Amino acid sequence: MNKKTLHDSDITEKRLLIRVDFNVPLDIDGNIADDTRIRASLPTIRYAWEKNSKIIICTHLGRPDGRVVSSLRTAPLAKRLSELLDLPVKALSEATGPSVRAAVSSMHPGDIIFLENLRFYPEEEANDPRFSADLAGLADIFVNDAFGAAHRSHASIVGVAGLIPAVAGFVMEKELIMLGALLESPQKPFVTILGGAKVRGKVQLVEHILDTVDAVCIGGAMTATFLSSLGYPVGSSAVEEESLEYVQTIQKAARKHNVRILVPVDVIIMKDDGHSNHILTVPADGIPDGWLIGDIGQKTIDMFKNELSGAKTVFWNGPLGRFEECLFSGGTKSIALFLADLSATTILGGGSTAEVAAELGLAGAYTHVSTGGGASLTFLTGKPLPGVDVLCNRDEP
Ligand code: 3PG
Repeated sequence: MNKKTLHDSDITEKRLLIRVDFNVPLDIDGNIADDTRIRASLPTIRYAWEKNSKIIICTHLGRPDGRVVSSLRTAPLAKRLSELLDLPVKALSEATGPSVRAAVSSMHPGDIIFLENLRFYPEEEANDPRFSADLAGLADIFVNDAFGAAHRSHASIVGVAGLIPAVAGFVMEKELIMLGALLESPQKPFVTILGGAKVRGKVQLVEHILDTVDAVCIGGAMTATFLSSLGYPVGSSAVEEESLEYVQTIQKAARKHNVRILVPVDVIIMKDDGHSNHILTVPADGIPDGWLIGDIGQKTIDMFKNELSGAKTVFWNGPLGRFEECLFSGGTKSIALFLADLSATTILGGGSTAEVAAELGLAGAYTHVSTGGGASLTFLTGKPLPGVDVLCNRDEP
């Protein structure tokens, strides 16, 4: 990796602005439902603390669209961070302005403060130069540990990095190394499992890795679009119509590259009448009108396991069925358990895949669980990550 990291900079007693991605899922009572992303950045923050830095943490949480939304304040994140670090963390109720500058100027080495949700300010997503300058003015060095937000050209990701020396935190560094290795030198056979929705982005990923991947297993909300591209009826399941032609093109390209695209051969379906207790397993070409795909069937699970059993590298992004409904979580669970025991490099793309791994208590069983959903897909599709591009290069002074 050619980007400077915390290890490449003298941060002792310096003021550090550390951009983290603590955009964690919240439960219906507003409590933190999964603190994986907070835990992930602890090594970065601890390292800075051991170096006696003055630590200013900032993040976005949710999509408040430039307004103050009280359920999205960062104080609960600061509290959880403080518990995990076993150190005091002072939550501020603003991210810029005189009160923030005053709090920063009275910091001592080793102090940690936590700014308010950056997305309460419309200037954040607009990558506003003044807002960027206000944030940059708080610190000597910018540390980007927010891999999950590196695909966003926002002020706290891109703008700030142009104004003060900008380096990668340890989460960012690990993600770039692990995901970079997937693109550059995956041990073969390399199998990718793709589920969830947003077909186009995932097919773009397949297109980008056609030279290195050996097989691609398709499941989840993508199933209907793939079955439809084969001319099968899909009942009331949602099809990404605008991607059908692209799916067909990539299937042809895959055949030319000897890449196997494994589309489900059977599916569990539910009646499209709001009562998910009426379910059936049918062959993938036999979905009746008025029924919806809920999960992959047992024959498909066996087919995927058979392909995966010889793999040396596996990348998985997206649940294989409606994981949140227990009737349709079987395919995802079964593959998650299988991968956990597989003797291969297993990398899970973030977002809902990471949540699935955490919910099943399996996160520690894989080689790497990415903290980034959209960011990991963007990276593996070969598109630039603006938040990475702006970090200082190692070969620069
Ligand atoms: C994520 O959760 O994928 C990141 O935090 C980015 O969030 P966003 O999609 O709201 O920009």
